[in-house]
Amino acid sequence: MKLFIDSADPSAIRELTATGLIDGVTTNPSMISKSGRPILELIAEICEATEGPVSAEVAGETAEDMVREGRILGEVAKNVAVKVPLTWEGLKACKILTSEHGHMVNVTLCFSANQALMAAKAGATFVSPFIGRLDDLNIDGLELIHEICAIYENYPTLTTEILCASARTPNHVKGIALAGADIVTLPPEVFPKLVEHPLTEKGLASFMADWKAGGQSIGK
Ligand code: E4P
Repeated sequence: MKLFIDSADPSAIRELTATGLIDGVTTNPSMISKSGRPILELIAEICEATEGPVSAEVAGETAEDMVREGRILGEVAKNVAVKVPLTWEGLKACKILTSEHGHMVNVTLCFSANQALMAAKAGATFVSPFIGRLDDLNIDGLELIHEICAIYENYPTLTTEILCASARTPNHVKGIALAGADIVTLPPEVFPKLVEHPLTEKGLASFMADWKAGGQSIGK
């Protein structure tokens, strides 16, 4: 499963990509707006920090505007994935941006299995189902991921990758991996939680104390 960073903070992105464990980045209009930086300049900087896809979202409301903006975003760097909303206009724009202009497209704000099917039909490179926002409404976000995985498996000609978004906890990550989705995107602060375990820390402290007491050394 691929790991993306859900952030528009270039320094957090650089720090995490330096681990070699990160496969891409997602941003959204709220993050870009909060950064206070011009979108094209910020996306260019993020694209330099990773070789993986960097999702950058259009703001237009019609397919025509989305295609126009998507082409501008797509020219920032070869690893930009143009992000469009899962609306009729967004799906029309997705089809044009992928088939006529050769851009990667991430169809976002997916909250149902039928929406994910339609994104795949429109030729989306990625579809982004939002888990946490469903959980917020007491609807099981992970169940949606299982449904989309099952539907895409039924139709091997659908090549759209399932990019699980709005994932906020290690349990989300485990559930996504068990479902077999392609990608999860996570806020930077969640990554350490995937690794840390109190028994690992306790075990390591005890091994190191024993090691020092025994006076051993490696290669010295
Ligand atoms: C994904 O592309 C979105 O930016 C993000 O995952 C939304 O997460 P949130 O629901 O926690 O805001």
